[in-house]
Amino acid sequence: MKWTLLAQAGVLLVFSGGVRGQDQPMDALQVRSLAATCAACHGTQGMAQPGMASLAGTSKEALLQKMLDFKTGKEAATLMHQIARGYSDAQLGALAAYFSSAR
Ligand code: HEC
Repeated sequence: MKWTLLAQAGVLLVFSGGVRGQDQPMDALQVRSLAATCAACHGTQGMAQPGMASLAGTSKEALLQKMLDFKTGKEAATLMHQIARGYSDAQLGALAAYFSSAR
């Protein structure tokens, strides 16, 4: 029971990008940690396996717009709308900057 709760807390942490300081400026390590939660699906450094959207090298503006559209529900998604809602707009901006400069 205790472990189930802990595991759930862990999942919540991953999907909310951490409970602390959602809108404070982030350092490089924090941004990399946020970006690591995307790697399972979009590949390490945003370079995905065939069949999945690569994030690396896409423009910062395009990435941020997509994620904001997922968050507001403007852009239809199977699961990115849930994931995008777990991040503040500032965190999405930091993620967009990170992946646009990854190659
Ligand atoms: C569990 C798998 C999964 C995780 C984790 C995940 N994504 Fe996604 N992502 C998807 C899927 C699937 C799509 C296609 C849209 C949909 O159906 O939700 C997508 C689409 C996207 C797109 C649009 C790509 C395009 O070219 O249209 C962006 C941008 C994106 N994800 C960013 C992220 C970021 C940033 C993270 C980490 C915070 C992340 N994703 C984490 C599965 C995932």
